[in-house]
Amino acid sequence: MVILGGSGSGKTTILRLILGLYRPDQGSIHLAGHDITALRERDLFEIRQQMAMVFQGSALFDSLTVRENVGYRLWEQGRLSDERIDQTVRESLQFVGLEDTIDKMPAELSGGMRKRVGIARALASGAKVLLYDEPTAGLDPINTCTINRLILRLKAKGVTQVVVTHDLETAYRVADRIVMIHKGRIIFEGTPEGLQRSTAPAIRGFIEPGSLSAEREAFPSPDNPLY
Ligand SMILES: Nc1ncnc2c1ncn2[C@@H]1O[C@H](COP(=O)(O)OP(=O)(O)O)[C@@H](O)[C@H]1O
Ligand SMILES: [Mg+2]
Repeated sequence: MVILGGSGSGKTTILRLILGLYRPDQGSIHLAGHDITALRERDLFEIRQQMAMVFQGSALFDSLTVRENVGYRLWEQGRLSDERIDQTVRESLQFVGLEDTIDKMPAELSGGMRKRVGIARALASGAKVLLYDEPTAGLDPINTCTINRLILRLKAKGVTQVVVTHDLETAYRVADRIVMIHKGRIIFEGTPEGLQRSTAPAIRGFIEPGSLSAEREAFPSPDNPLY
């Protein structure tokens, strides 16, 4: 699922709601068939263990090695032996193609590599649901492609993923379903093909911002010569 929308449209807020970091004023949030909207903090803790977030800025701990970053949640949980954790960390790093960075510090890695370590960390946690906040923002086309491929490979493995993005290319590439939000409302829900075919001005305004209907949407005044 891709949640698409411009800056400030509320994408990160939705992820924080899903994680239970915010409580909604209205509506409800369901995870694997269970309504988790009104859970107490203690029960939310259990729910959160099933989810992992790939943060926009990758959010690695600068003072920890890649190994420690990726294994952090497992060490914290204290359920697995050190050997099992190390094995899981290696497998996760292998999946993102960064096994050889295991003893490096985050500062030694490029932005794209840090993003991939962020994904490895989410994978290592054993979460069933991965949430991504703008996973390709600020990356060059090659790194964008690498991240999108990783998302697709996880999709092929049956991992549930919610990807928040304002990047159309990522949305078209990875989505089964797209929800588009605009000014706090859902204005589209459907397939990537459906989005491309849509004639709604707010949607055209986003996917081809230079178009005539987009200009009308941006300046909806009779004084506007484009109106
Ligand atoms: N549904 C909402 N209810 C309350 N505040 C919202 C809602 N959606 C967005 N906001 C506020 O709008 C601002 C931008 O939202 P954010 O989720 O950071 O947008 P995005 O990630 O799409 O750029 C934040 O300050 C957030 O608190
Ligand atoms: Mg955001």
